[in-house]
Amino acid sequence: MPVQVTKICCIGAGYVGGPTCAVIALKCPHIQVTIVDLSQPRIDAWNSEDFELPIYEPGLVDVVKGCRGRNLFFSTDVDKGIKEADLIFVSVNTPTKKSGVGAGYAADLNYVELATRQIASVAESSKIVVEKSTVPCRTAESMRTILEANSKPGCRFDILSNPEFLAEGTAISDLFTPDRVLIGSLQTQEGKDACQSLAEVYSNWVPRERILTVGLWSSELSKLAANAMLAQRISSVNALSAICEATGANIDEVAGAVGFDSRVGPKFLKASVGFGGSCFQKDILNLVYLSESLHLPEVAAYWRQVVDLNEYQKRRFGKRIVDTMFNTITGKRIAVLGFAFKADTGDTRESAAITLIRDFLSERARINVYDPKVPESQIWLDLEEARPDIKLDAIQKQVSICQSAMEACADAEAIVIATEWKEFKEIDWEAVYANMKKPAFVFDGRLLLDAAALTKIGFKVTTIGRPSHIV
Ligand code: UDX
Ligand code: UDX
Ligand code: ADP
Repeated sequence: MPVQVTKICCIGAGYVGGPTCAVIALKCPHIQVTIVDLSQPRIDAWNSEDFELPIYEPGLVDVVKGCRGRNLFFSTDVDKGIKEADLIFVSVNTPTKKSGVGAGYAADLNYVELATRQIASVAESSKIVVEKSTVPCRTAESMRTILEANSKPGCRFDILSNPEFLAEGTAISDLFTPDRVLIGSLQTQEGKDACQSLAEVYSNWVPRERILTVGLWSSELSKLAANAMLAQRISSVNALSAICEATGANIDEVAGAVGFDSRVGPKFLKASVGFGGSCFQKDILNLVYLSESLHLPEVAAYWRQVVDLNEYQKRRFGKRIVDTMFNTITGKRIAVLGFAFKADTGDTRESAAITLIRDFLSERARINVYDPKVPESQIWLDLEEARPDIKLDAIQKQVSICQSAMEACADAEAIVIATEWKEFKEIDWEAVYANMKKPAFVFDGRLLLDAAALTKIGFKVTTIGRPSHIV
């Protein structure tokens, strides 16, 4: 018989666990949801009186305001959270391994394993354990083995895979009206019952026909596949953008025409300076690693090319900037507008802006950075990590962080749009032009700006997927 879930614990209060479980609490007032994390500052921020939450996500504050203290709690008491719950989400980080076997490709499952071991050692009653973090195929099997080997008499653990498909910046609307909720379970009676229990939770707001139940391995692989295919669309369109720049075709027109085919569809075909974010690269590299481990080198090579093309796109855009500015940017001031990996988030993981600035540093340019949401400390951390060969104070001699786009552009010779923040469209471009050195260059890596209008003002505009200076 499926268990009626009344208490949920979520281990990991990050970009995935935080918003997902906050929405569950909002939509299921009869369920108590406790989100736990090892990090005291993170939990303090979730609990802060003025709702200065640790992550920026449109609509999130309202969700938390709607249920914090009612049936949503944030705590560092991981053991208590585990003990009380009948269902536990494991939403810890799974970064790409930096050393050891599979370094650079495989996911680091250390955090998942530690959380799993903690569940096994403190649980005093049966639990449904839900793998929420994106993990390589068959991780659930490892979790099951650990839990079974360490469980106490009378404690049963059922493992489910329930990957999260939310995108940052639209997390709350994605969670409110998901395209689908995917739940994978063992195809045993107990597995199907556990699956039913979790499906009940989602059915409080998600139509039943959108809740898909599949086998554990299908569920795990579907998450990797979905991200790999989305990223592959971007690499495909970015590969075409290089052809457009060389031929005079316009990537927006090409992508628009291709996307009209209902078999392809219009979404997710925007050429860019390259995709970023914590998921795409990591998940594809995971798929590459999996394919190699399964002795499928052709499959591995196919997916690896999606990431290689993305690296090429970032390098290519940086090189185009240097080429256009008379083959040198040494000593020139460049305003980089946007540092987050996409608009409407403060997240910078794998952001294309980092690669661009890293390369500008090598060219000995002077760089002004402005992003409306990324904290200054994060920018320094990312640049320090990108350039381990130089000391932070040397980086700080070349890079200034600005408080507005206007300030960043003052006295610059070029402006680079690295993130598609809407506010960059609304800049007073006439005023910006007046304050810049001439010729004043704009490099639009996000197809964001009206190139014709900027050209009219006097800017030399270069846009991804279009030949230089042709509007
Ligand atoms: C992605 C998936 O969309 C989501 O389903 C999954 O759960 C996590 O990974 P996220 O990384 O948050 O979400 O953002 P997404 O909107 O997918 O963008 C990823 C990157 O691709 C960004 O850098 C974005 O700017 C870029 N992108 C996206 C493009 O360059 N062009 C596009 O057409 C779409
Ligand atoms: C294709 C394009 O669809 C059409 O728009 C263009 O004008 C000409 O090329 P066609 O080659 O006639 O049309 O058939 P299509 O239905 O696209 O199938 C092409 C091949 O892909 C077939 O061998 C088909 O069996 C295969 N296919 C198609 C799959 O293996 N899986 C699919 O999901 C779809
Ligand atoms: P994601 O984008 O996958 O949500 P984040 O890094 O934003 O990843 O969040 C993962 C969170 O999980 C971090 O806040 C981290 O402190 C927390 N975490 C990792 N391991 C544990 C653990 N064993 N117990 C509790 N929290 C953990």
